[in-house]
Amino acid sequence: MARDEATHHALDDVTNAQREMWGRGDFHRIGVGQVLVGELLVRALGVGPGERVLDVAGGAGNASLAAARRWADVTCTDYVPHLLFRARVRAAAEGLPLALAVADAQRLPFPDASFDVVVSTFGAMFAPDQEATAAELLRVLRPGGRLGMANWTPDSWVGEQFALQARFLPPPEGVRSPALWGTTARLEDLLGVAVDAVRTTVAQSEFMHRDPDKLWEQFSVWFGPVATALERLDPLQRTDFQRAWQSVTDRHNVAVDGGCRIPSSYLEVVAVKRHGPASGP
Ligand SMILES: C[S@@+](CC[C@H](N)C(=O)[O-])C[C@H]1O[C@@H](n2cnc3c(N)ncnc32)[C@H](O)[C@@H]1O
Repeated sequence: MARDEATHHALDDVTNAQREMWGRGDFHRIGVGQVLVGELLVRALGVGPGERVLDVAGGAGNASLAAARRWADVTCTDYVPHLLFRARVRAAAEGLPLALAVADAQRLPFPDASFDVVVSTFGAMFAPDQEATAAELLRVLRPGGRLGMANWTPDSWVGEQFALQARFLPPPEGVRSPALWGTTARLEDLLGVAVDAVRTTVAQSEFMHRDPDKLWEQFSVWFGPVATALERLDPLQRTDFQRAWQSVTDRHNVAVDGGCRIPSSYLEVVAVKRHGPASGP
């Protein structure tokens, strides 16, 4: 359905606010704990030498680097330039070639069918226009190419923290929860008949720290969404937010020695873009 101009403007405003949010702190310091997810995803996709791989909302390059280690030709995109700078430095440290491009997942600056593989780990799921994002991921993929995603599930630790964030700083009406990308029902809606051989697996990642207080310190300083909430809320709400965040954390923490080990589930998605007339959902 064609969107009216007001809806477009509202979504642009949300995108701009989110870009500022992800630019706060330094997501790299959080993302580095999740390198395994990108490694497992590119292995599940069977990424190989010389394949053209696009990483959408790739941040500091976790999935990009995993693909580059398999000698694919990788382009890492994100709309926060300083995260791409991190990806560049990491690739250089490993002696790996990596192309970079500042890009919004909802408007990818690449021609149709220009990649063999498109990946996004905990990235594209955050764009407010979920339909446009899905259409873009599929548009730039060649028919027969593979799409791989890692999307936090709604009941995961991260899914619950984002729900909490939305309770304290509600998004405009009509903007759907990012964690819906972590459900097979919404995923099928978004990818529709444009893909087949869809394989979804619920996998577990882990967030570790010395203790839960250290985890809060790490997230409140370096994780853009939490840092943004702390800046935008008044002092009373800030205290409530911190308490609620820590209570979600305590509920998910499985460490029995006073430490912090938090499993967080995500949907690993591997799909193949169909040949033929169906080019979108
Ligand atoms: C949780 S981080 C994940 C980063 C990386 N994919 C990883 O696995 O480490 C989310 C990333 O998505 C990016 N992002 C969110 N919405 C985006 C959009 N609409 N276009 C491009 N990047 C976006 C943020 O800048 C951030 O780098």
